[in-house]
Amino acid sequence: MGRTVALLNQKGGVGKTTVTLGLASAAAHRGDRVLVVDLDPQASATWVLGVDPATAELSTADVLARTSAADAIVESGWSELIHLVPGSPDLQSREAGTPSRLRTALGQVAEGYTAILLDCPPSLGNLTTSALTAADHAVIVVEPSSLGLRGIGAVADLIDDVWDTHNAELELSGVIVNRVPAVSGEAERRYDELTRIVGKKAVWQPVVPQRVVLNQAIGERRAIHSYGSRSADVAASFDALWNRLRRTIR
Ligand SMILES: Nc1ncnc2c1ncn2[C@@H]1O[C@H](COP(=O)(O)OP(=O)(O)OP(=O)(O)O)[C@@H](O)[C@H]1O
Ligand SMILES: [Mg+2]
Repeated sequence: MGRTVALLNQKGGVGKTTVTLGLASAAAHRGDRVLVVDLDPQASATWVLGVDPATAELSTADVLARTSAADAIVESGWSELIHLVPGSPDLQSREAGTPSRLRTALGQVAEGYTAILLDCPPSLGNLTTSALTAADHAVIVVEPSSLGLRGIGAVADLIDDVWDTHNAELELSGVIVNRVPAVSGEAERRYDELTRIVGKKAVWQPVVPQRVVLNQAIGERRAIHSYGSRSADVAASFDALWNRLRRTIR
């Protein structure tokens, strides 16, 4: 029974990092401990969690190169319940490596957390393969637009591939729909299309609405739960998604 969850999509800017951090915020709000592992050379999650990638001593790149995860973990600036393995530009050159290394490293610290969230880069290269090899659950983050749904098949194929070659524990556990506009016929049609592609049960509820405060929280490097009534509805969405994730990993 595993608690490591990879949040992925090869498409950039769909909200992988926003959703990962929204879930981490919900976890801490509820009193659960989580570890966020930043696998993106852009290191956005690291930055938003209040850690400057330039000053972090060790990063996910070092863990992929055999440093123990325990040595690389730092506390985030958000909460003592949210820990982080920082991302760094070095990850770019880690594109090649043994995919099982991350799994082994995270296995040694997993006991200390309710869940480990892997924020993947926007590609289906070796970093995402490492994440999927380390993960027990894959969760695809999508946007309900025509471009947002393109390429979902390739993501599912990679999950299949990793399941086949490196990690028979891996499950495609769900799809989180992000950035859903309040009123949009196009978004509704794409949502219907998505449920036809992956099946209704695979789409986690609720969806994450498109909201300025989410964008602001990322820019201000703050947890979405720290905006009071301004973010109450979005925060509630992440609370519900966190509960869903907890049920999944139980
Ligand atoms: N639901 C939302 N409402 C409003 N803005 C959002 C929402 N989700 C994401 N954004 C904004 O969209 C931008 C991209 O989001 P994010 O960085 O989370 O995507 P990503 O998939 O992690 O990108 P990358 O592929 O570069 O890692 C950010 O500026 C973020 O604030
Ligand atoms: Mg990201």
